[in-house]
Amino acid sequence: MPAERIDGVAIARSVRDDVAREVARLRQRGITPGLTVVLVGDDPASAVYVRSKGKACEEAGMAGDTIRLPATTTQEDLLARIDRLNADPAVHGILVQMPLPKHIDPDTVVRRIRPDKDVDGFHPVNVGKLLIGEKDGFAPCTPAGVQEMLVRSGVDTRGMECVIIGRSNIVGKPMAALLVQDRVGANATVTVCHRHTRDLPAHTRRADLIIAAAGRPGVLTADMVKKGAVVVDVGINRVNDASTKTGYRIVGDVDFDGVSAVASLITPVPGGVGPMTIAMLLRNTVRAAGQVTS
Ligand SMILES: NC(=O)c1ccc[n+]([C@@H]2O[C@H](COP(=O)([O-])OP(=O)(O)OC[C@H]3O[C@@H](n4cnc5c(N)ncnc54)[C@H](OP(=O)(O)O)[C@@H]3O)[C@@H](O)[C@H]2O)c1
Repeated sequence: MPAERIDGVAIARSVRDDVAREVARLRQRGITPGLTVVLVGDDPASAVYVRSKGKACEEAGMAGDTIRLPATTTQEDLLARIDRLNADPAVHGILVQMPLPKHIDPDTVVRRIRPDKDVDGFHPVNVGKLLIGEKDGFAPCTPAGVQEMLVRSGVDTRGMECVIIGRSNIVGKPMAALLVQDRVGANATVTVCHRHTRDLPAHTRRADLIIAAAGRPGVLTADMVKKGAVVVDVGINRVNDASTKTGYRIVGDVDFDGVSAVASLITPVPGGVGPMTIAMLLRNTVRAAGQVTS
């Protein structure tokens, strides 16, 4: 039997409905959760992400503000902007869209955001809280979205052998930190693989849960997957395709058709993890607003 698809669009919708209900409760108390996104420069992909974040905020009844700055903005100017947002009580979440122009150091910028407004979850304070298992920090939205998606799909990760392909600070490492915690939705035995992993298929073949986040189309093929495994594809890759209007199409890291014949549950690309990321960003912002006022 082919794998059942996990519908990221539907799950993200239900998270966003929950968020909208929480926003309505907060608004009754006179608080409108506010997210400010800062976009520096004119990277077209970033502009698309930022627009969809603003739209999602509006839909949830939140205040979504976008500050667009020219690519020539100095680091000093950007830090001064962040200081103002840090001090603004109407702003509960701050997100600086990456990548930044080369003359601006992203680590310095992330460290300037107040940890209790860092709804992206990249400030070292939040990274530390995630690892320790403290619940009042913010987890990065993509791995948090994967975890939420698994919980809402009825996947019990307790005791599962989980193999993550990729060790980036935005996906692989925080994914491992989330799944290894002693709590519901976690309690997995986690292996993190990367380019120096000696025998990737040997790891993935014994996994009950595989999370592919390598940014390499076809990094996971059917022969690397145990029958009945759960497969989550975080990858978003552009591949050339002359048959489409744009000349390219978006694929994940997983050979979807091949792996579907072996896995029990699988996330598609697009329509899998992608929509969860924005849903979790909204959820983090609403939590930030609730924490300030409670
Ligand atoms: N759905 C979403 O909302 C969302 C959000 C974020 C990212 N993404 C996508 O997820 C993918 C990963 O993103 P990222 O930012 O984590 O990428 P990244 O920073 O480039 O990290 C990729 C990781 O994969 C590892 N890797 C690459 N090729 C490998 C291979 N053949 N075997 C084993 N490991 C390999 C790398 O190992 P080394 O460390 O050894 O180099 C690295 O740790 C990208 O396609 C990205 O577009 C999606």
